Amino acid sequence: ASAHGGGPFIAAIDQGTTSSRCIVFDKDGRIVSVDQKEHEQILPKPGWVEHDAAEIWANVQQVVTGALSNAGITKKDVLAIGITNQRETTVLWEKATGKPVHNAIVWQDTRTDALCKDLGRNVGQDRFRRETGLPLASYFAGPKIRWLLDNVEGLRERCENGEILFGTMDSWVIWNLTGGPNGGRHVTDVTNASRTLLMNLHTMQWDEKICSSIGIPMAVLPEIRSSAEVYGEAVGELSGLPVASALGDQQAALFGQTCYSPGEAKSTYGTGTFLLMNTGHEPINSYNGLLTTVGYRIGDQEPVFALEGSIAVTGSLVQWMRDQMGLINSAAEIETLASSVEDNGGAYFVPAFSGLFAPYWRSDARGVIAGLTRYVTKAHLARAVLEATAWQTREIVDAMQKDSEVELTSLKVDGGMTANNLLMQTISDVLDAPVVRPMVAETTCLGAAYAAGLAVGFWSDTEELRANWKRAAEWTPRMDAETREREYRNWLKAVERTMGWIE
Ligand code: G3P
Repeated sequence: ASAHGGGPFIAAIDQGTTSSRCIVFDKDGRIVSVDQKEHEQILPKPGWVEHDAAEIWANVQQVVTGALSNAGITKKDVLAIGITNQRETTVLWEKATGKPVHNAIVWQDTRTDALCKDLGRNVGQDRFRRETGLPLASYFAGPKIRWLLDNVEGLRERCENGEILFGTMDSWVIWNLTGGPNGGRHVTDVTNASRTLLMNLHTMQWDEKICSSIGIPMAVLPEIRSSAEVYGEAVGELSGLPVASALGDQQAALFGQTCYSPGEAKSTYGTGTFLLMNTGHEPINSYNGLLTTVGYRIGDQEPVFALEGSIAVTGSLVQWMRDQMGLINSAAEIETLASSVEDNGGAYFVPAFSGLFAPYWRSDARGVIAGLTRYVTKAHLARAVLEATAWQTREIVDAMQKDSEVELTSLKVDGGMTANNLLMQTISDVLDAPVVRPMVAETTCLGAAYAAGLAVGFWSDTEELRANWKRAAEWTPRMDAETREREYRNWLKAVERTMGWIE
């Protein structure tokens, strides 16, 4: 018990792409305990990715119990619960029973590609960008709802009758936590709502016109609330505890990395990688393929916006090497294997498994390995896998600098892949900038805990939170400029070869 500052505590639930976890934090923002459980990745067809929302809810309950018991505490020691989640993943369920009407469609899923193309016909991909900050792409939730309406029999009518609720995973978890069919709160927060293609950034409300263009009955949509306020009280095991924050996981990481001033940025290396920069109280339009998104909103304060560069596949490429290819036995092994050779042996791997996200937004792209000769070994490929994450980061940083006119002086990083030293060094090399990791690399949960703690007065303001940020590691560039430029050119050539694969 002396490892942490003593209670009371804040519990954060992170409902992520591959697992759900719960982390208990103390007042200094230190981790007291963790529990985590993976869920099944359902891959019915090429490009399709689904989750079973009922399995996810069961796992969430289990990890909450696990984290409290690992900490040796009960709900009486917990002041509030915060929620963070994989964004865009879409579930529709029956209000009366809480039963999902279909598997959740995951953010990585490309089935709405044709639908998005159709919605952009004659007008282009940026049809709703002014209102929503987003291009029309299969990544976002709105078109996924439409797909379900078109493909689950009788669903549209039931939606119009008010029998069905839509949610991203924040809404799904909050509704279940606060009572489910018996009075559960049907809400979402501004950050999650800003990933649907249905919320207007200028009003912070659902955009009626866009909903009708995409064909979404507004009766299914949750109420949009701030990221830090009490949405309701939990029932069941946590009964009586306030559910006091919700943020999409990337926005939560921005918050947990204490990027509270314009120009501050972080990059989270998980299943995918997401680089967000705080741009202050005004939404900034991107002309270089980034997204304009809500960073966070604390209660009734002014919202804070962000520019985001989203990369669909980074950590999931390592998982693919392990699970689908069997080239490594554990994710950590990729570093050992890659370190056994000096360079990539001429091979470049562009993992456009879900099309290409930022800065290209090409749902028609698919993965390639380019530059193969007989010389290439699995160790070279391991190296190309890690370099793919580094080069994708470089492309985002270039776009971010153009849009924001802010020069990157260093990059704050977090997420599971930051345990990989070779990768962190390579990122610093290709950016030609230092990369820094904080002591608490679990910034996603930390951000949700911070927001919940602010909502219930556990912490007084963001200045107090800033004081908790402590540097744990730093990598500085070692690559010469000539190598960097040559390798970047090769990378860009390989990227070209992914595009237009799906006709
Ligand atoms: O936009 C998708 C993102 O929120 C997923 O994050 O960490 O679950 O891969 P993660």
